[in-house]
Amino acid sequence: MTKASEIKLKTKQIVKQHKGDKSELIAVLQDIQGAFNYLPKEALTAAGKALGIPASRVYEVATFYNAFSLKPRGEHIVKVCMGTACHVRGAAAIQDKMERTLGIMPGETSADKKFTLETVNCVGACALGPVVVIDTEYHGQVTMAKVDKIIGKMKEGAQQS
Ligand code: FES
Repeated sequence: MTKASEIKLKTKQIVKQHKGDKSELIAVLQDIQGAFNYLPKEALTAAGKALGIPASRVYEVATFYNAFSLKPRGEHIVKVCMGTACHVRGAAAIQDKMERTLGIMPGETSADKKFTLETVNCVGACALGPVVVIDTEYHGQVTMAKVDKIIGKMKEGAQQS
């Protein structure tokens, strides 16, 4: 089976789990992103068809929410908080360090598809700023040395696997 047909098949299964209910569009998109780590074009088209929603509306919703990504993302999502509380505690320098350590800019994915770098506005842990969230793990009071340590460990782990 081609990748596109696999994506379509999986999307149809997801829509079925939501009983083809139009009002479940956001939940369907969340599940699609959960399955592929982003929203592939083929999945958006297939979801629209299966739910009876125009493709333009599906795209509108998919692009409205920051949580959705239309571009393939890496195995690990690195989010640097740039909210006010983190900003005053040096988040800009942490972001800069993260860009240099990973070799990518926010919104980009590393060539080996291991990391995607993103910036976010407040993750609700202001007292711990500057905060970096990697996948679901929160890292508080992040320093330059801590960036090296965390990413170094993850890269080592990636090489071993
Ligand atoms: S501003 Fe960064 S966690 Fe709130």
